[in-house]
Amino acid sequence: MVDLLDAPAPPRVRRVGRYNYPADFGDGVDALTAELQGMLLGGRYVLTEEVSRFEAAFAEYLGVRHVRGVNSGTDALILAFMALGIGRGDEVVTHANTFYATVAAACLVGATPVLVDADERSWGMDVTQLDAAVTAWTRALVPVHLFGKPAPMEAVMAAAERHGVQVVEDAAQSHGARTGGRRTGSFGVVSAFSFHPSKNLAAAGDGGAIATDDAELAASIDRLRALGQQGQNHHVAVGYNSKLHAIQARILEHKLPSLDAWNAARRAAAAGYRERLAGLPLRFQPEDAGEEHVYHLFQVRTDRRDALLAHLQAWGVDAVVRYPTPIHLQPAFADRGWREGQFPVAEALAGELLCLPIRPDLGADEQDYVAERIRAFFGAGGA
Ligand SMILES: Cc1ncc(COP(=O)(O)O)c(C=O)c1O
Repeated sequence: MVDLLDAPAPPRVRRVGRYNYPADFGDGVDALTAELQGMLLGGRYVLTEEVSRFEAAFAEYLGVRHVRGVNSGTDALILAFMALGIGRGDEVVTHANTFYATVAAACLVGATPVLVDADERSWGMDVTQLDAAVTAWTRALVPVHLFGKPAPMEAVMAAAERHGVQVVEDAAQSHGARTGGRRTGSFGVVSAFSFHPSKNLAAAGDGGAIATDDAELAASIDRLRALGQQGQNHHVAVGYNSKLHAIQARILEHKLPSLDAWNAARRAAAAGYRERLAGLPLRFQPEDAGEEHVYHLFQVRTDRRDALLAHLQAWGVDAVVRYPTPIHLQPAFADRGWREGQFPVAEALAGELLCLPIRPDLGADEQDYVAERIRAFFGAGGA
């Protein structure tokens, strides 16, 4: 007879979340909220000194000369394209497995997006396809530092130089990531960041920024984000209205000094997952020499993705799919002439990648639990 007292306790469902908003504010929240209250009641909302202070601090952090805060990462891309004069008749080259906004931004300024496939090994842009994708109409290459892993910037910059086109980095997922000692967002003529609440540097709502070393581009963005104004009611360009809100800027300024520590904690959590999941039929996004991945997302790759997702969700683990449909198969782009099978790596990734919860404060016990549940799914120990 089995002695019930000696039998191991059956596993219990526990929640492992993707976000912990209080932890995401770090220390000093009371002082911060008192300041925010002062801003709210004092009418300090639009392009205040809080905005310029954050812009200066983020520029210094990135190692670029100018940062301009805008309403979102999508707007950052749109305004970057507008400032470069990219529009109707121009082509921009990006990859088929990015987030929708990279490509929508190009379409919204009237440009034609051209896609290359994802790279089978790194899951980022397949730079070997760039030469064939560039035409006489190409104005920019748009690498995306996907999931927090730097794109292969040496190869992208070399291709841009070969073809005499600009590089616009989509750094929406890679705040603080480095390659060759430089931060992502400091390579291209201009780069775009998102501070969406899901991001490694997160506002309390939408927010974004454009980074550049070029003073003229920065001045152009100053005009474009403020309805083309140069001085009150004097409109010198057909601009847009897209400014980082002062409250968001103050929150971002509060969080920025913690970003490197938070990214280091994400990297440690990613290493913890890799160790615990070793030996299972899962693949991970590689970390290459000389780069620092900041694990905006921690992805595992498996051909049993959907079943693993359902299993983890049933066990309380907030796993999600990013992104289930590649760009060329999105209904919004149905009139672009792309077809199924055209970008096979992007399609495979869309069917096989699964994000495990990752946060700077993800505990070892949470990693143990997620790994145990995954081991159980593959029948490799655990219940
Ligand atoms: C790769 C990428 N590009 C652009 C964006 C757009 O940013 P936002 O949501 O702030 O408009 C995001 C994030 O959502 C993103 O992940």
